[in-house]
Amino acid sequence: MPQLTNNDQEIFPVSASLNDAGDITIGGCSIAQLASEFGTPLYIYDEDTVRHMCRQFTSGFTDAYERTHIEYSTKAFANPALAKIIAEEGLHMDVVTGGELIFAKAAGFPAERLNFHGNNKGREELSEALDYGIGRITLDSFYEIGLLNEVAREKGIRQKVLLRVSPSVDPHTHLLTTTGVLDSKFGFSIETGAAAEAVQQALSADNLEVVGLHFHLGSPIFELEPYSQAIDYVLKFAAEMRDVHGLQLTEFNPGGGFAVGYVGEELPPPITAYANEISVAVRSGCDRYGLEEPQLTVEPGRAIVARAGVAVYQVGGIKRIPNVRVYVSVDGGMGDNIRPALYSSEYTVRRAHEPYAEPTEKVTVVGKYCESGDYIAKDVELPVLDSGDLLCTPTSGAYSVPMASNYNMTTRPAIVMVKDGDARLIRRRETYEDLLATSLV
Ligand code: LLP
Repeated sequence: MPQLTNNDQEIFPVSASLNDAGDITIGGCSIAQLASEFGTPLYIYDEDTVRHMCRQFTSGFTDAYERTHIEYSTKAFANPALAKIIAEEGLHMDVVTGGELIFAKAAGFPAERLNFHGNNKGREELSEALDYGIGRITLDSFYEIGLLNEVAREKGIRQKVLLRVSPSVDPHTHLLTTTGVLDSKFGFSIETGAAAEAVQQALSADNLEVVGLHFHLGSPIFELEPYSQAIDYVLKFAAEMRDVHGLQLTEFNPGGGFAVGYVGEELPPPITAYANEISVAVRSGCDRYGLEEPQLTVEPGRAIVARAGVAVYQVGGIKRIPNVRVYVSVDGGMGDNIRPALYSSEYTVRRAHEPYAEPTEKVTVVGKYCESGDYIAKDVELPVLDSGDLLCTPTSGAYSVPMASNYNMTTRPAIVMVKDGDARLIRRRETYEDLLATSLV
């Protein structure tokens, strides 16, 4: 049987293959077959890859630091079918809105394993989280400290919380996805003294039980060193807070941001490298500052689901502008994946049938939205295409559909989960009726 190239094998789902007819298959289902059954644009998620990534994280981290929880960051892809798998694999999960909480609840996700993140949680959202018996809430502002203390008091609850601090460390990723620097809306800055003030306020709030500290540097982070730099700084701060205010660091959460390979030539460090960097930094920091080794939590979002997801588009019009560019229009685009337009993110594109066939030409794959910035991939080498051909982009499982919009009044795509030759719909395609449902005449 023909095979995917080695580079593609790294970025496509673990179950991806080529069948005898020359079609790419995922989870034993050919992309062509799925497209004809469910239509395009279509997002295909591979259950084996999701489980594989959960296990890689769990073993990678617990081998390096036994008391580690892996907390999947729901924002990368929120879906009840996915949340069930995450729960079965024993992971924890974070949510950042009441809406994400609803998805966790719909999957029956154990409340004790949930953490509520976000920089501006509302009263209602906090109340809903407490009613569900949420395990942790990570507080991000003085306003939230006061608000949660009040809501918890009204309900007669003492809520376990972490404080999100900002360590002023730049992880060298896209400006729009950098969060742990001084000039950021996230967290209490250690550098300015705000974090120390927050520790004091939270410790003296009767209905809050401060169990630890959290930071998140940004994403995706291809370098390891920013993690250890930030961990050392925050552990030093924790020791100071223990001495000054009696803070007990029983839990420590250095966030997520683990990178994935979008294009085969640019692969991130393996999970074990992140795990070693983080665990060594936590151990040596605790040793240096005389702290007990805390329960560790890391929060991968992208790295759990990106590789599991493949987007499928059908080619429509093709425009050849001599000596300038070949534009290949597909039936999706920035409405289902805004990442290229927003962050200049790169994606690999393959024809779903005979992906490596000759002859090839350099083309720019664009969407159907009324924006010149609407593209999927610029100047990529593909077999000469015809209208009606299917194209697919691997590593589309994170932050594509969750950031999707109805721009130009398009309907958001269907999503299927595949495993062992079976495909089940886990989100139906939106309809025109859905588009009209919220508008009033
Ligand atoms: N923890 C916190 C507190 C976060 O804010 C995030 C992501 C994560 C964990 C998970 O990061 P991950 O492991 O997925 O990199 N829309 C952007 C990414 C925004 C990430 C926001 N926060 C993108 O498409 O690249």
